Amino acid sequence: MPGRTVSCEPGDSVFFTDERLSIIDQTALPGATIILELSTPEDVVGAIRRLAVRGAMAIGVAGAYGVLLGALGAAGGNVEEIRRATGEAVSIISASRPTAVNLFWACRRMENALEEGAEDGPDTLTLRLRRRADEIAFDTIESNRQLVEAGQEVVGNGAGTLTHCNSGPLAAIRYGTAVGVLIEAHRRKKGIHVYVDETRPLLQGARLTAWELGREGVPYTLITDSTAAQVMRRGSVDLVITGADRIAANGDTANKIGTYALAVLAGEHGIPFYIAAPDSTVDLECADGSRIVIEERNADEVRTCAGRATAPPDSPVYNPAFDVTPAKYISGIITERGVLRRPYVESLRRSRG
Ligand code: MRU
Repeated sequence: MPGRTVSCEPGDSVFFTDERLSIIDQTALPGATIILELSTPEDVVGAIRRLAVRGAMAIGVAGAYGVLLGALGAAGGNVEEIRRATGEAVSIISASRPTAVNLFWACRRMENALEEGAEDGPDTLTLRLRRRADEIAFDTIESNRQLVEAGQEVVGNGAGTLTHCNSGPLAAIRYGTAVGVLIEAHRRKKGIHVYVDETRPLLQGARLTAWELGREGVPYTLITDSTAAQVMRRGSVDLVITGADRIAANGDTANKIGTYALAVLAGEHGIPFYIAAPDSTVDLECADGSRIVIEERNADEVRTCAGRATAPPDSPVYNPAFDVTPAKYISGIITERGVLRRPYVESLRRSRG
């Protein structure tokens, strides 16, 4: 597998150059690859809210650079002004999406840099924040590189696999998590096949995962979400693997809406169900899944599809972006530290050391 371990760079879904944050606009894919340049924390908040940058790890790294943009916006000011602008950036960025813990993990690390730089002058403080954001990007990429390696243990030769939403390089800056594991299995010539759930309402599976697998030459079949049970029953799926937005201390896992249903279906058919996510997605302060805040999104995402009305415009809608899969359905959690097994309340804590 590729050995690049530097911080983010052009070609990654999020990268920082010349005091601007560049992101691949994930709303434009697969039709067009558009790079958006963001220069203020407000730009970053807007991009996160409308899912131009999305996926737990990508929003964590974008959030960290968004905080840095706050500090850079006060360049030329005194240290108090830089601190105030950075703090304001942290508060608006942490309010942009509530479920993925990586965003809060990244913002907390940026705040820690502010605390560690209590004696810094303006230039040193700004440099410290820049270095911390680069470290967050580096750690994200490196943890994904390692978990993609660890995940090979669960993917056998010729495996039929199924995934949901998008947890590839777009969602995680470079290697990806669940989709990264599958891409690497293909590169190792394991002869796998991937069933890709389209992932209504916003079609991250159809638009993004299918695009990423196609670019890599990974054999895949796109299915509607409701086809998953059928492909399991006919014996086409040996394992299900998805990413995660937050993993509670007991292993309950929030991920894209529909993941819970897949895990129950996998259990019913005796198919192992894996989560792949770095340690930064594990929230040990959150005891179980009932405490994870689930984002609810705009009703029009459900009343329309690809910009066309598909329901009466006044239809009442319930549109949670995520659901929580109880730990009992999860066969293993793949992190950069290996494949963790039940009871997760012990293995997650122990793996952090
Ligand atoms: O609403 P999204 O598209 O940001 O949801 C993303 C997911 O649910 C992914 O599966 C998760 O963030 C893992 S990405 C490495």
